[in-house]
Amino acid sequence: MSKIELKGKTILVTGAAGFIGSNLVKRLYNDVKDVTVIGIDNMNDYYDVRLKEARLEELSVHPSFVFVRGSIADKAIITEIFEKYKPQIVVNLAAQAGVRYSITNPDAYIESNLIGFYNILEACRHSYDNGATGVEHLVYASSSSVYGSNKKVPYSTDDKVDNPVSLYAATKKSNELLAHAYSKLYNIPSTGLRFFTVYGPAGRPDMAYFGFTNKLRKGKTIQIFNYGNCKRDFTYVDDIVEGVVRVMQKAPDKVTGEDGLPLPPYAVYNIGNNQPENLLDFVTILQEELIRAGVLPEDYDFEAHKELVPMQPGDVPVTYADTTALERDFGFKPSTSLRTGLRKFAEWYKEFYM
Ligand SMILES: NC(=O)c1ccc[n+]([C@@H]2O[C@H](COP(=O)([O-])OP(=O)(O)OC[C@H]3O[C@@H](n4cnc5c(N)ncnc54)[C@H](O)[C@@H]3O)[C@@H](O)[C@H]2O)c1
Repeated sequence: MSKIELKGKTILVTGAAGFIGSNLVKRLYNDVKDVTVIGIDNMNDYYDVRLKEARLEELSVHPSFVFVRGSIADKAIITEIFEKYKPQIVVNLAAQAGVRYSITNPDAYIESNLIGFYNILEACRHSYDNGATGVEHLVYASSSSVYGSNKKVPYSTDDKVDNPVSLYAATKKSNELLAHAYSKLYNIPSTGLRFFTVYGPAGRPDMAYFGFTNKLRKGKTIQIFNYGNCKRDFTYVDDIVEGVVRVMQKAPDKVTGEDGLPLPPYAVYNIGNNQPENLLDFVTILQEELIRAGVLPEDYDFEAHKELVPMQPGDVPVTYADTTALERDFGFKPSTSLRTGLRKFAEWYKEFYM
């Protein structure tokens, strides 16, 4: 792998007002000397825009941070950003996320995840025009949802993922395919990251732990599927960001194949925790931490607000990531315990909403 120095570089982060994107920008400014980050986000209202604004406000303290409000699906904007700032590293996190929303709003997925990603690839390709050094590494978000209803666990990047069960998953798998073709044709070093459930402060309100919290706070009952005997991988956002920053610094090598043509400098990794947690344990810790942070009252009767229900059709009882490749190549190992991570979420929630 080729080592990439981040110091002094210009880095484009798409989806910079998003959950993972904003945390990544924060980390880059904290850890990397003389870095310039260009962030783009269309600030769409898929979830509470105040969250995106609050995240951006935190980033605005960095004088060299440039924020562009616009869509990656707008080719003119992307071309202009690449021509003006010449980013050397690109991290594409902008996307329409969520599996359920893709049933009612398919357009958003085609626009952001396919057209948007295609524009990023085209811009990377043209960054080498006229012998320019151009983009040294493109890192982009894929998703664990590409594994669909695969039965074999842990999920491995060697598994077949040709049977997506949602439009969201189909767009993410397509991103990997498009990246492969562009890496092969134009020698763009690219690394796709299949994220598994990421949680933390200022996280995404469409995710289960956040939805549970909103419901419990309003005195509603939460439903726990398969009587709580589901196992899922949860990764704390700081750990994920640590992994992304490590990946950014090592790009797949450009090598020539036997036919004299370049082999695609292309890689895909799982990025998750490799430690599936029982859903019922997760919810119990969440509830304890919500009480501790003062989101729920001291005498909260959790038993009265949880309903254990059977499995939903199509649900998979255990999903988690095989992360051996990420550990081998980048020394990545998440270290935040569920209790520590949920404590930070609960404290943030109290501060932000109450
Ligand atoms: N959080 C997770 O658990 C998880 C799991 C799997 C994959 N992912 C992927 O990781 C990436 C980041 O996820 P996140 O959790 O931070 O989600 P997020 O929704 O908080 O962040 C995505 C950001 O992209 C922006 N965006 C959407 N379409 C855009 C467009 N066309 N142009 C510009 N900006 C646009 C949104 O406004 C949002 O701020 C996404 O690609 C997502 O699919 C996340």
